[in-house]
Amino acid sequence: MRTPLIAGNWKMNLNLADASALAKAVKDSAAAYNDRDVLLYPTFLQLTQVAAILAGSKVSLGAQNCSAEKDGAFTGEISASQIKDAQAGYILIGHSERRHVLKETDAFLKQKVERVLEQGLMVMLCVGETLAERESGKAVEVVLGQLNAALSHLNGDEWRKIAIAYEPVWAIGTGKNATPEDAQAMHEAIRGRVAALNADIAPKIRILYGGSVKPDNIAAIMAKADVDGALVGGASLKAESFAELIRLAK
Ligand code: 13P
Repeated sequence: MRTPLIAGNWKMNLNLADASALAKAVKDSAAAYNDRDVLLYPTFLQLTQVAAILAGSKVSLGAQNCSAEKDGAFTGEISASQIKDAQAGYILIGHSERRHVLKETDAFLKQKVERVLEQGLMVMLCVGETLAERESGKAVEVVLGQLNAALSHLNGDEWRKIAIAYEPVWAIGTGKNATPEDAQAMHEAIRGRVAALNADIAPKIRILYGGSVKPDNIAAIMAKADVDGALVGGASLKAESFAELIRLAK
């Protein structure tokens, strides 16, 4: 019922030539499959070029962030409407690097969700606990708190524009992934909370896992009932490993 979604978050990597070559390779790899969706998150500066490469393919395009404001005197910021202009359909909100390195708060991220939805684009909300929070038994409370803060006010139409990525902070870029059982337990808790907020959307919403996803662990994680895809950092930067992830993402 939920089509698997495999997403590559390129973060602040790749120059334009490498990004273009990778986008072309991903377009070719994805073309072989009708039963799974593929999405790429290049840097802002590469959106236009990657959009041109992906045009006519079924690979979707997203931006890694947007401003919490609509427009105006916000030097260095980029608005959701400008991202829409660049042909992106998704915006990643609340990635752990923005929550923890750039200190973005729940209230600020809620504003960003509003900006994305105003443009009719898809939000991919990232949630996840730190190692200290997990070790003190607070992981579910933290993750559901992040979810509530960003999404609990949404109406039914808005919920259709939401995907969620569970990325435990301690698993990002560390080579330590959550066990399939731990990922499933958190995804089930997330879907349970979505059901409490909007019962109709809960069986349909896609919940992705992210954190050191590689060709050798994706199948076991995605075999779990509530894992609908993967948000991949490092392994999305090489055409061969991302092609493997697309192939294994069933
Ligand atoms: P890695 O796959 O490099 O651990 O990164 C995960 C991530 O942050 C994706 O958004």
